[in-house]
Amino acid sequence: MSVLQESISLKPYNTFGIPVNARYFAEIVNEGDLVQLLNSDLIGEQKLLILGGGSNILFTEDFNGLVIKVSIPGIKSIEDGNDVVVTSGAGVVWNDLVQYCVQQGFGGIENLSLIPGTVGASPIQNIGAYGVELKDVFESCVAYEIATAKTKVFTYKDCQFGYRDSIFKNELKNQYIITSVSLRLNKIPDVNIQYGAIKDELANRNISSPTISDVSAVVSDIRVSKLPDPSTIGNAGSFFKNPIIDQTQFDLILKQFPEIVHYPAPNGRVKLAAGWLIEQCGFKGIISGETGTWRNQALVLVNHGHATGQEVYSFSEQIVVAVDAKFHVKLEREVNIL
Ligand code: FAD
Ligand code: EPU
Repeated sequence: MSVLQESISLKPYNTFGIPVNARYFAEIVNEGDLVQLLNSDLIGEQKLLILGGGSNILFTEDFNGLVIKVSIPGIKSIEDGNDVVVTSGAGVVWNDLVQYCVQQGFGGIENLSLIPGTVGASPIQNIGAYGVELKDVFESCVAYEIATAKTKVFTYKDCQFGYRDSIFKNELKNQYIITSVSLRLNKIPDVNIQYGAIKDELANRNISSPTISDVSAVVSDIRVSKLPDPSTIGNAGSFFKNPIIDQTQFDLILKQFPEIVHYPAPNGRVKLAAGWLIEQCGFKGIISGETGTWRNQALVLVNHGHATGQEVYSFSEQIVVAVDAKFHVKLEREVNIL
């Protein structure tokens, strides 16, 4: 049975390092405990927060409800021809799963090396980096419905994945707790090195036929050079999503800002680099009280030590207003605001 704690600090449980408290807190290490908890009186009485590594959350106030921290361990794999289906407990640290797969020679998630957080959260926003998204290897996940304590298997189609998006952020928001995720990986890996920064770094290292281990190492090094380490500077990665706009709106912006960073997006739309937009508004590397943007990446908001969630949120609102005023583009937050 999981131990129910009362009035605990969530500071160690969010990578922004915001010092708020939770009224109740329970850590789940197996499905039996989860079912017991879901059948208890607390469910229905208390508002709930399902928590993994807290690396995509900004707390703006105390959480006056029950936090369920999902820490279910375990990785197993089943071979299927040239493929292997790897199933991981939701509480496994995402990068531990990546490193396990790289060591076993299972290809497909090496480009997602060093993304913080847990495996259970990976389908929620369809994590992505360096030309790969979780959806590219996703087989299925198992989740418990909070209202009934019953399990459901979600297939690729069920999850309705999009850019930093899935059904778990929309119709099924806060309704399911993911307990395991299965990925279909390749035993004869075909590396994906289309992303410019990976290609350049492999060339710098004179690696012409990269292995998945090389790609993992290069991606990890690029990330360390660009992004602040949450163990020393609180942050939650990209604070906003890269905006996707239609071609007509893009053509108008392009006339005024011919050097704008952009990429093709599905359905003839255009994706803009939010970091570039924010930098053009003069926000890169600025310090505002205890918060600010990272010096190497304007899209990452940071806690310089004593920021409150309200302070970070208000600062993010200043950025939204400035980008809207200059480019007529409305930035959407990627980070979950609580
Ligand atoms: P949490 O922050 O704990 O939770 C995030 C959301 O998922 C919440 O809504 C929560 O309720 C829900 N949730 C968590 N676990 C479960 C579960 N088991 N069942 C149901 N719901 C659940 N993201 C990227 O996509 N690409 C990147 O390159 C990237 N880089 C980052 C770099 C840094 C330095 C940081 C700090 C973050 C970065 N992120 C990136 C964001 C973050 O790592 C991912 O969103 C990650 O998947 C969050 O995992 P978590 O376990 O910390 O989730
Ligand atoms: N840029 C600037 N100024 C900045 C930051 C970026 O001009 O301050 C420009 C860069 O020069 C580059 C472009 O913007 O031309 C894109 O920058 P970068 O390659 O750093 O990637 P990003 O679009 O800012 C996205 C993801 C990251 C992911 C990287 C690598 C989003 C919201 N962010 O960042 O994901 O790791 O690509 O694939 O899609 C996250 O989601 O938390 C996250 C870190």
